[in-house]
Amino acid sequence: MKNDLLIRAARGEPVERTPVWMMRQAGRYLPEYRAIRADTDFLTLCKTPELAVEVSLQPYRIIGVDAVIMFSDILIPVEAMGQEVRLTEQKGPELPDPIRTRDQVDRLIVPDPIEKTGFVMDIIRTLRQELNGAVPLIGFAGAPWTLAAYMIEGGGSRNYANVKRMMFTEPTTFHALLDKISDAIILYLNAQIEAGAQVIQLFDSWAGELSREDYEQFALPYEQKIFASINHSAAPAILFINGCGNFLEKMATSGADVLSIDWRIDLRDARARVGPQLTLQGNLDPCVLLSTPEIITEKARELIRAGGGHRHILNLGHGILPMTPVENARAFIEAAKTVLE
Ligand code: CP3
Repeated sequence: MKNDLLIRAARGEPVERTPVWMMRQAGRYLPEYRAIRADTDFLTLCKTPELAVEVSLQPYRIIGVDAVIMFSDILIPVEAMGQEVRLTEQKGPELPDPIRTRDQVDRLIVPDPIEKTGFVMDIIRTLRQELNGAVPLIGFAGAPWTLAAYMIEGGGSRNYANVKRMMFTEPTTFHALLDKISDAIILYLNAQIEAGAQVIQLFDSWAGELSREDYEQFALPYEQKIFASINHSAAPAILFINGCGNFLEKMATSGADVLSIDWRIDLRDARARVGPQLTLQGNLDPCVLLSTPEIITEKARELIRAGGGHRHILNLGHGILPMTPVENARAFIEAAKTVLE
């Protein structure tokens, strides 16, 4: 591979410089993405390998990121499990028939990832061919708690009242759902690795909404089960949680090789809390990219220094915002690429 900085950083091997990419790097802040979306709805884009490959490659070609993440969505396997998913322009994801009963949990299937989501594996295979070893390819999935939240709420949520109601009043049903999602995600991620994903990221984006105790009961065991069941020698694994500061030490026991952390924790404090054995990814506030290239460069360099040039992958603390100017995103990427002392 020509540029394997991300894989070496994930494994704790020496790197010439800190690698950089951005969560949600393929998306609406790029005019080239919006041009394709102008005549293709979101789910069709996810299911049309030729177009999904094109938008996955856009951030590599346009701003020069050190890794490509396949274009898809965490809700794709939810649809494959048998629950209807819509993505609406205004409101984001909508699941019109939310899971509320044991019966609905039992009716969900654990899909064969090739049969039901073969288009994802086609995207991965084609991306590997197109990249031809230029930079690593990242595959991903949503984690059980975060997916269950969408499946039970029926979409995004402010206070997670429905999912938490089930969690507290019907823990057995809730665990049955989390178990089923875990089984589906293990098959799905291993199929991605088999197809050629070189790094895997598990998005437990909303686990930060849980107390430490509930995180240990309802999210961590399923993250652990997933990381114990995927092939780390073929693909190092990253775990992202937005708002993980309350239980970072617990997150460090998930089995992930890399912890992707949000901006509310200081990177040096995070390192002190997890010890030297894991790689950290992050953690610039995505809103910093709304400032100026000069400010972005300075703050990115501060983070690179805080990361110490070892076991650190520069990234945002959550996804890039759609209103981010492209030249600001580029300044962030360039900051990692220009040598510092
Ligand atoms: O990172 C990448 O560039 C790869 C693509 C990617 C998307 N979604 C594309 C997308 C990835 C890795 C995701 C993951 C995802 N999807 C997460 C976890 C990451 C996170 O942000 O916490 C979550 C929670 C979702 C669910 C989801 N999908 C939401 C909440 C939304 C609507 C909000 C929004 O940003 O529009 C989506 C739609 C979505 N997924 C878009 C993109 C580019 C926008 C769709 C459009 O083009 O209109």
